[in-house]
Amino acid sequence: MKAKFNIAASAAALSLLALPAVAGDPDAGESAFASQCANCHNVVSDDGDVLAGRQQVRTGPNLYGIVGRQAGVVDGFRYGNSLVEAGEEGLVWSEEDMVPYLLDPVSFLRETLDDRRARSQMSFRVRDEGTAQDIVAFLAQFGATDAEEEAEEGGS
Ligand code: HEC
Repeated sequence: MKAKFNIAASAAALSLLALPAVAGDPDAGESAFASQCANCHNVVSDDGDVLAGRQQVRTGPNLYGIVGRQAGVVDGFRYGNSLVEAGEEGLVWSEEDMVPYLLDPVSFLRETLDDRRARSQMSFRVRDEGTAQDIVAFLAQFGATDAEEEAEEGGS
């Protein structure tokens, strides 16, 4: 009896490992992005296609391809020093890191940099973790496709 239970438990543990990094709902994330993020951010592809938000939004950086990108590196955007420093010290946005950032950017930067004077230029917090996960799942859909990456590698 006990052995059977253990097998079932480890099968459950294995199937948990196979789940995506953050269990958000990208459709719910789309509407949350529109109401909570689009005042400051948009998602614009390298070809200039506006995939989310509006063209003329400049308060926050373009979030195209944000998952897997080093923090603080959108060309021409004037970030705060703390976010740039976190990127230089190796912060590459994963889905897991972005959730606590969205819930509390200042605390996230202070912990990441181990510096209690770290500051964030993003004066906005998502109120609940589920919504943050949904938004991250939505944003994770936009990025360089494999074909684009191959073309870039081939072209260089
Ligand atoms: C009031 C404007 C504002 C709102 C609303 C806002 N942001 Fe930001 N966001 C910013 C600014 C400004 C920065 C740059 C922060 C810095 O330099 O410290 C930023 C930075 C970011 C970054 C880091 C980007 C990078 O290149 O490293 C992410 C990710 C992000 N925001 C996601 C979001 C999401 C998702 C939402 C919606 C839940 C959101 N933001 C809402 C203004 C905003």
